[in-house]
Amino acid sequence: MKKFAFAFGLAVMAMFTAPAWAADGKALVEANKCGSCHKLQGPAVTTIAEVLKRKAPDLFYAGSKFNKDWLVGFLQSPTVIRPAGTVYANNIKTDASQQDVIVTPPKCASKLSAGDAGAVADYLMTLKDASMKTGFKTGKFSKARARMLLTKKQPCNACHTLPKRGGGVSCPTFEGIGARLNPDWMYSFIQNPQHWDPKIWMASGDYDEKTMKLMVNYLASFK
Ligand code: HEC
Ligand code: HEC
Repeated sequence: MKKFAFAFGLAVMAMFTAPAWAADGKALVEANKCGSCHKLQGPAVTTIAEVLKRKAPDLFYAGSKFNKDWLVGFLQSPTVIRPAGTVYANNIKTDASQQDVIVTPPKCASKLSAGDAGAVADYLMTLKDASMKTGFKTGKFSKARARMLLTKKQPCNACHTLPKRGGGVSCPTFEGIGARLNPDWMYSFIQNPQHWDPKIWMASGDYDEKTMKLMVNYLASFK
């Protein structure tokens, strides 16, 4: 009888603590006004004008996009991911000598404690796009071929910065991208960026499976 009561007590505790934890994260997101900059509910905007007004990246599919451990660290002390901000056109000005200069790219305003960051990350990880194909397995690949692909065959580095090799500043850096992003999401985004963001200015490529694997393995190796 005692044993049963104990087990029953544990089951009741589990029933109540699991959703309460997730709800905690949601309440923290509301209390910290994350939604004043980020879109927390889909669907994505569908006009270029709306993209240009975007203050911060969409978070309504955060659970498909990010690695949770990365989120927990970032939410406590955000780093710069997009060197010229969320919409580079809004932060690049031409100076007196006709050079383009970046004007103070806004950083994420999140300054959560370790405990709150954990709860918010747990909540964000529940925001998933169920249609995303999952199960990408990272494996061996040729770094030389991957580098050639991303810098010569495809102009990825015109917009993105490659670790130690430089590149464009108008888009998220590839530095640390392997720690930041879920490989399944990278695969899906590279294949069809417009599935996630209908008016985003990255072209979808008609890549074969081998090329896709090479790209995602290479990006996933940038920890
Ligand atoms: C004042 C506006 C503002 C507020 C408030 C804000 N953020 Fe941000 N956040 C940003 C900007 C701008 C970026 C893009 C930074 C970059 O790319 O360098 C960002 C980036 C992020 C990213 C990475 C997104 C990506 O796709 O790379 C996450 C996750 C995030 N914020 C979560 C949060 C959470 C959670 C809160 C609330 C606790 C929050 N932010 C509050 C402006 C804000
Ligand atoms: C014309 C500029 C441009 C080119 C060229 C380009 N991209 Fe992008 N890329 C973007 C934009 C814009 C985004 C989304 C920006 C954002 O989230 O703020 C993006 C996002 C990404 C992301 C998600 C990054 C993140 O951190 O959120 C990956 C992965 C990516 N691109 C890979 C590639 C690869 C691989 C190539 C080459 C085959 C490439 N891109 C070429 C503009 C470009």
